[in-house]
Amino acid sequence: MAEIDQFFTLLREYLEKNSIIKLILGKYRGSEDGLKNIEIKSVSIKSQDSLSFVYQYKTKDITKNFPAGEGIEAIRGLLGGDFKSAHLFSLTEDIQIEFSKRGKCMLSRSKATCGNTPDKKHNREKHRTIDQNRPFLTTLGITNDEHQVIPSMSKKWKQINVFLEIFQQALLSSQLSKTQNINVVDFGSGKGYLTFAVYDFLRNSQGMDAQVTGIELREDLVRFCSNVAVKLEMDNLHFCQGDIKSYTPAKIQVMIALHACDTATDLAIFTGISSGAEIIMCSPCCHKELRQQIIVPPVLKPMLRFGVHLGQEAEMLTDSLRALLLEAAGYETKVFEFISLEHTDKNKMILAVKGERSPDKKAKTLSQINAIKDFYGIKEIQLEALLKTTVEAPFLPTELSCSDHSKKDDFSFSQSTL
Ligand SMILES: C[S@@+](CC[C@H](N)C(=O)[O-])C[C@H]1O[C@@H](n2cnc3c(N)ncnc32)[C@H](O)[C@@H]1O
Repeated sequence: MAEIDQFFTLLREYLEKNSIIKLILGKYRGSEDGLKNIEIKSVSIKSQDSLSFVYQYKTKDITKNFPAGEGIEAIRGLLGGDFKSAHLFSLTEDIQIEFSKRGKCMLSRSKATCGNTPDKKHNREKHRTIDQNRPFLTTLGITNDEHQVIPSMSKKWKQINVFLEIFQQALLSSQLSKTQNINVVDFGSGKGYLTFAVYDFLRNSQGMDAQVTGIELREDLVRFCSNVAVKLEMDNLHFCQGDIKSYTPAKIQVMIALHACDTATDLAIFTGISSGAEIIMCSPCCHKELRQQIIVPPVLKPMLRFGVHLGQEAEMLTDSLRALLLEAAGYETKVFEFISLEHTDKNKMILAVKGERSPDKKAKTLSQINAIKDFYGIKEIQLEALLKTTVEAPFLPTELSCSDHSKKDDFSFSQSTL
């Protein structure tokens, strides 16, 4: 059997056994500018065996998914033509095929060098962290040109990875694990580290059709992020300049707000709940609202006369009420530390995944909220006030400008959500 036929026989065999880790087409000799390799993995998309092709360019990656049969034919068309080598990494062996300048083909087999267990059913669980070679990491200044993490960015790097692990787990436990299309909004996106990471993760690691939008007050940051997205051809990643309270899109499936200051977190959670988000992830910061309102219960006075303790109490109270309000709105909610304090002091995560709505649970939770508020003499927490009120969207086109102006959603909040 000709060596090329032997290669395709082995490829099909390993695909059937689900034991392919990856296939890399290399030695590109075609005419497309900047294209280096194609990394191919076996994935399951809508229960169909598929091959995910990541075209790796100098400054960007582009993913295309094919049904397995079509994918094999595509490889056949590329190998020996534009790509002069293929390296197949399987669980049991590595197989390499090379084409000489004269078109002569040589196949070699050696011991397996990769140890991952591919599991297509759970292929979303395989990619625990983001690939350090991703071009956006270099453009955002997290890695250098050699794809090494820049020492001063190591905390951010760690934070992005832990964030994505939590996000991935939330995704798997939500209804979104069954869909291919996903719409994410990141409120207070700042320099876009997480926004880019989520986009890259969903599209390139998960093979999902993701639309991601970052909302940010600062015009300079929006300009910066929009330029990077255009440069890296991340076509469904947009950044909009504006205030969270002015942005009320018709549909959000995942709402992210990391370190949105004070009540900006309440606004973000409210927008997430109102638009029916399946996943709400936020890491609150600067808890000012309740600190001024707390009437210290007599028994706690000896403890809370210390300002630092009062601040901590206000923070715990604010985030507990937020978590309970999310539960009353039908979310399974967790509050936890998401990275250790050595990385940043803003390390609390409120994670809410939409669950079953239960009127009994809602009534019980609302009465717990009232009891806690009474105990501390709290009149109002912004999230509760927002959820109780029928809100007319204060959106004014002049207040918000998106990087893609064709992308204006419907804006309306017409009913009370609590
Ligand atoms: C501490 S930074 C966090 C950036 C990013 N989420 C991260 O974790 O890397 C908070 C960002 O939220 C933005 N921000 C604060 N309040 C906002 C609001 N009401 N609407 C939009 N952006 C807001 C700030 O301009 C800032 O860039």
